[in-house]
Order: sequence, then C-alpha cells, then structure tokens
Amino acid sequence: MEVKDRVIVVTGAGRGIGAAMCRTFAEAGCKAVVVSDRDESAAADVAREIGPRAVANRCDVAIESDVQQLVAVTMAQFGGVDIFCSNAGITVKGGLESSNSDWQQMWEINVMSRLFAARAIVPHMQERGEGYLIHTASAAGLLMEIGSASYSVTKHADVAMAEWLSVCYGRSGIRVSVICPLGVETDMLDESDPIHRYLHLHSITAVDAATSILEGIRREEFLILPQPQVAEFFAMKTNNYDRWLRGFQRLRQKLTRDQNTVQ
Ligand SMILES: NC(=O)c1ccc[n+]([C@@H]2O[C@H](COP(=O)([O-])OP(=O)(O)OC[C@H]3O[C@@H](n4cnc5c(N)ncnc54)[C@H](O)[C@@H]3O)[C@@H](O)[C@H]2O)c1
Repeated sequence: MEVKDRVIVVTGAGRGIGAAMCRTFAEAGCKAVVVSDRDESAAADVAREIGPRAVANRCDVAIESDVQQLVAVTMAQFGGVDIFCSNAGITVKGGLESSNSDWQQMWEINVMSRLFAARAIVPHMQERGEGYLIHTASAAGLLMEIGSASYSVTKHADVAMAEWLSVCYGRSGIRVSVICPLGVETDMLDESDPIHRYLHLHSITAVDAATSILEGIRREEFLILPQPQVAEFFAMKTNNYDRWLRGFQRLRQKLTRDQNTVQ
C-alpha cells in the first residue's frame, strides 16, 4: 500500500519510533497523520513540528474507551482510517522477581492495546473492503529479550495476535504487518544496562526504522525487519531450537558476567 493520500493513526507517537513514523508518513504525502500518545504535550509537539497534515490526540492505549474514542474522533474528522499503527509499548526489566502489577501493565500496554484497536477498527475496514493494521512488536517477539521476561512474553503475544488477525481478516482486504526491530536508538534503550548495550551493536536510528517500515508497508510484507539479520537469527531458532537455546544461555552468561564486572 502506498501511504500517499491515506489517513494514518500512530499510537505512542510522542517520541521515538512512533514520532519518526509520523514524520516519515507525512513526508511521503499521507493525507493526515494522527499523532497519538498518552503524553498529550509530546504528541502536540510532534504534530506541530510536522505541520498541517498532522493532528495530535491523547490516548492511553491500555484503556479500551480511549482507543474507541481515538478511532471515533479520527473517523469523524477524516471519514475513515486507512492505516492503524499500534506502536505504543513499554519495557520493564526483570525476571521471576518482576511484580504482578508490572506484568499486568506490560500485558495491557503491549498486548491488550492491539486487541482494543482491532476491535474498534476492523469492522470499519471490513465495511470498506480494505485497511491496514501495523503492530510494532520487536525482535524479542521472535527471539527473546534476555533481560526482561515480561517483554519477551508480551512481544511474542503481539506477534501471535498479528498472525491471527492476518489469517482471519486477510481475505477481507485487511493487510497486517508486524515490525520486529532489534535495538533502536530511543529512550527505551538504557545505556547503563549491559544487555541494552549489546543491542546497540545492531542498533539503528528511529528515522532508519521508520524508513524501513514505510518500505515494508509499500511491499505489504507481514514481517517488517528493519535489521534484516533478524530473519537469519529466527531461522537458526526454528532450524534447531535446542542449539539456539544453548547459544542464548551462553550469551546470557557472558552478558551477566560483564554486568558483574561493571558493578
Ligand atoms: N527502542 C527499541 O530498541 C525497540 C526495539 C524493538 C521494538 N521496540 C518497540 O517500539 C515501540 C516504540 O518504542 P520506542 O523505542 O519508540 O519507545 P519510546 O519510549 O521512545 O516511546 C514510546 C512512546 O509510547 C508512549 N506510551 C507508553 N505507554 C503508552 C500508553 N499506555 N498509551 C499511549 N502511549 C504510550 C510513550 O509516552 C512514548 O511517547 C514499542 O512498542 C517498543 O516495544 C523498540
């Protein structure tokens, strides 16, 4: 799909990858881009900087009525939504010790938000016979984030949700893509964390990620991989799961050792 003349919504667009996506879509000639974030002033700043093609919106994607409102307001203003990008996401570091409330928050923002968006927008897209759902998951959704159990699990769930939507609605003209980047240089990457520093080895800028996302949308690829080597890593996993697990066990040991040396 070409983004030219399309109405596009991006959640979590007040900074990082989402903001870069909005700028890139505007430069590519979209009709309108809704810069949505729970941080209203960050969304307003990005929309102001983009100019007349952009409108700001406040929406907390973990709240279903907020997502319904985002869709309703956009439909009323522009007559429809062509592309809905569920991009907002968070991370919480930690393993077994992570609190239940952290897990719940991760589940709501990284997974339920995608369900809320699909529930609100799919019926309209079916009626029009076309539409596009974009999920920003992560390479962690195909592989793993060693430093965060809840990020690994919720990003896998996001990939599964995107697969399910594609299978169930692909024949109704609804395209679905899931974006699975490795490290992207945004506030989410924490330089003080050795695992995040390791991600920096393969990291790209948010602008590069957005350019790759635009190309992926043009090609209507299900799996959009801003770092193409993720496809090789994923193939290694599926070709020999046990060897892949042993490799990640070694990597974790090495990174944890580095962490202990730093402390
Ligand atoms: N940065 C990376 O290395 C990386 C790698 C792979 C995937 N991702 C994914 O990309 C997406 C964007 O991440 P980013 O790196 O741009 O992060 P970021 O922290 O720079 O920006 C995230 C934005 O989402 C907003 N947000 C958070 N919770 C929200 C909520 N409940 N409702 C609405 N908005 C909310 C924040 O206010 C912020 O503006 C996330 O889904 C993330 O998991 C990031």
